Amino acid sequence: MNRQRILIDGDPGVDDAIALLLALASPELDVVAVTTVAGNVPWERTFDNGRRVVALAGRKEVPVFRGCTGPLLGPVLRGKYSGAGGLGGSLLPESDAPVQTAHAVDVITATLTEAAAAGAPITVCTMGPLTNLAVALARDPGIARGMSRIVAMAGAFLAGGNRTPSAEFNVLADPHAAEIVLRAGVPVVLAPLDVTFQALATPARVTALRARGGRVTALAAELITFYDRNDPARYGEPGGPLHDPCVIAYLLRPDLFGGRPAHVAIELQGSLSYGQTVGDFHGVTGKAPNATVLQQLDAPGFFDLLWGRLAAL
Ligand code: RIB
Ligand code: CA
Repeated sequence: MNRQRILIDGDPGVDDAIALLLALASPELDVVAVTTVAGNVPWERTFDNGRRVVALAGRKEVPVFRGCTGPLLGPVLRGKYSGAGGLGGSLLPESDAPVQTAHAVDVITATLTEAAAAGAPITVCTMGPLTNLAVALARDPGIARGMSRIVAMAGAFLAGGNRTPSAEFNVLADPHAAEIVLRAGVPVVLAPLDVTFQALATPARVTALRARGGRVTALAAELITFYDRNDPARYGEPGGPLHDPCVIAYLLRPDLFGGRPAHVAIELQGSLSYGQTVGDFHGVTGKAPNATVLQQLDAPGFFDLLWGRLAAL
C-alpha cells in the first residue's frame, strides 16, 4: 500500500486525541511525527497527553514532541477543559512512550526540509493554534516546498465562532500564526466550525461506539462523554462536535466532505471580529483562492469510518 506520509500538529485535548487515534489506526497513513503546542491546555499537558494517546494506540514508536508555549502575539487562551488536564483528568493512563527532547519547530523544519530535498512533500495536519508551523515558516520559508498541503481544523465562516461571536478557538488563540500559514503558498484545506459542527457525537452515536467492542472503544466513549458535558447547553444540540477528527477523516475519505475554494484572510485589527476567518467565496477581492473551505459532511459516513477504525485498534 502506498501510505500517505503525514505530520500531525495539535493541542490534545479530547477531540485531538480521537483524531490521533483515528490516524494511528489507519493503515493508509504513515504518521512521521506528532508535534504539540499550547492551546486547549498548557504545553506541558498537550505534550504529555500526546504521549498518552500514542501509548493507548499501541504506537509508542511514533515520536511526540513539545512545541511553542504560547501565541506569537496577544493573550493566551485555553480550551474548555483546561481544569481537567485536557483529557478528562486521569481517564487516560500515564505513558511510558519516549520523552523526546527536540523542539517541535526544529522537528517540523527538519522533516519538511528532508521531504523537499527528496522531492516527496508530505501532508501537514493541524488541530490546534498554528504557532509551531508559523514559527517554522518564519524561520525558513523554504520548508513550504516540503508540504504538499496543509489540512487544518481552523476557522469559522457562516457558522459563527465558538470563542467569540466571530472567531474559532484555534485561530483566535494565535491569529497571526494562522495568517502566516495561509500566506505560505501551500495548498490549504480548512475544516472550520461550519463542517465540524456537523460531526456531532450524539448519545445514540456514542452508544453505537460502545457496541462496536475493541480495546479502546470504552475509553474513547468515556472521553467523548466527558467532552460532551457542556456542548448540549452551549449549542442546543445533542452531543459535542468532534472537530479535529474531521481533518484525518478528510485524508481518508474526501468524498465524505463538500467544500469550496476561497481566498481566506484573518482579521487582525477588529475589536469585535479579531481572529475571524474572512472568506472571499465570490472573488470580490480579485485575490486567487488560497484555501479549500470544507462546508458539508456526510455525518453517518464519518461516524461509520471513525467508529470502525477505533474499534480495530
Ligand atoms: O475550535 C475547536 C478547536 O479548538 C479544536 O481543535 C479543539 O481541540 C480546540 O483546539
Ligand atoms: Ca485541537
